[in-house]
Amino acid sequence: MTPQQIIMTQPDDWHLHLRDGEMLGTVLPYTARQFARAIVMPNLKPPVTTVKQATEYAQRIRAALAQRSAEQNIAFDPLMTLYLTDHTSADEIQRARDSEVVQALKLYPAGATTNSESGVTDLNHCTKALEAMQKNAMVLCVHGEVTHQDVDVFDREAVFIDQVLIPLRHRFPELRIVFEHITTRQAADYVQSASGPIAATITPQHLLYNRNALFQGGIRPHYYCLPVLKREVHRQALLAAASSGSPKFFLGTDSAPHERATKETACGCAGCFSAPYALELYAQAFASAGALDRLEAFASFHGPDFYRLPRNTRKIKLSRTAQKISSPIAAEGGFLVPLGFGEQLDWRFEGFA
Ligand code: NCD
Ligand code: ZN
Repeated sequence: MTPQQIIMTQPDDWHLHLRDGEMLGTVLPYTARQFARAIVMPNLKPPVTTVKQATEYAQRIRAALAQRSAEQNIAFDPLMTLYLTDHTSADEIQRARDSEVVQALKLYPAGATTNSESGVTDLNHCTKALEAMQKNAMVLCVHGEVTHQDVDVFDREAVFIDQVLIPLRHRFPELRIVFEHITTRQAADYVQSASGPIAATITPQHLLYNRNALFQGGIRPHYYCLPVLKREVHRQALLAAASSGSPKFFLGTDSAPHERATKETACGCAGCFSAPYALELYAQAFASAGALDRLEAFASFHGPDFYRLPRNTRKIKLSRTAQKISSPIAAEGGFLVPLGFGEQLDWRFEGFA
């Protein structure tokens, strides 16, 4: 029988785009309301490549939070990442390791996605940095897609596994890797069967939708993210992996806000803004698999265990209450359209239990 409420350990979001400036102030409260911590992506313009920049960015996040939620009982901890480039030095990795601020490095293959122009052009340029990361047990978060124009956009993740990830892990078998926002059966199978320190995050959109969502009666830019939604067999494999109880899979929303006009245009930005209803969306997915009893471990245990951080202790509550995702959110003189806009949810986040 479906429970009427879920009380669970407060979750963390292990992959999040918070942006900066005014947009940061707008989107941060949605995440801070549900999650205790988040791995904050470094793809700002210019990207966050040094510990100094990450420390300053973390201060801006804390300041934005203090301003927005002065009277609320919110404690949110941003876990910062550095953007790996062809020029990241072993010294910078050491500084990251010694800092209290930086938890991981992020690998964007150059040109793979939003603001990835400074990404890595060839992993052979990163040998020193990767050696230092392996030695210091620093986590590498990986955007797992090849970028060659001659590889079909729906195949780029599977090709990345064979051409980049397997050789990388062969060279650095102890490197701690999070394969971010996986979207295919191949990625789920690879992570599940691989030995050594590798795990994966899964977004709500890849658990809930297949690529038909992009073309339902017309082109639907608010379902467009990278890596792009795949076929139904892949969605089913991801849902099975997320709800399997395996500690290798955990929550990472990849919530990536873009103002509506930059998505509803001739060349729209990639990214789904899932923060406003993130937990409800995951609950919806797990309920569809009859696996609500496994949501807590996916959302709240496997992530901190992999990152070697303590699990949260506070409890939050979801109630089985129908609600419709109905209001766009004012931002930057325009609007943000939340993931699932116009759809019905069966669950509602009720705050701390
Ligand atoms: C992200 C963004 O907008 O920053 N977009 C996305 O579709 N996921 C970048 C990324 O993580 O790929
Ligand atoms: Zn992302």
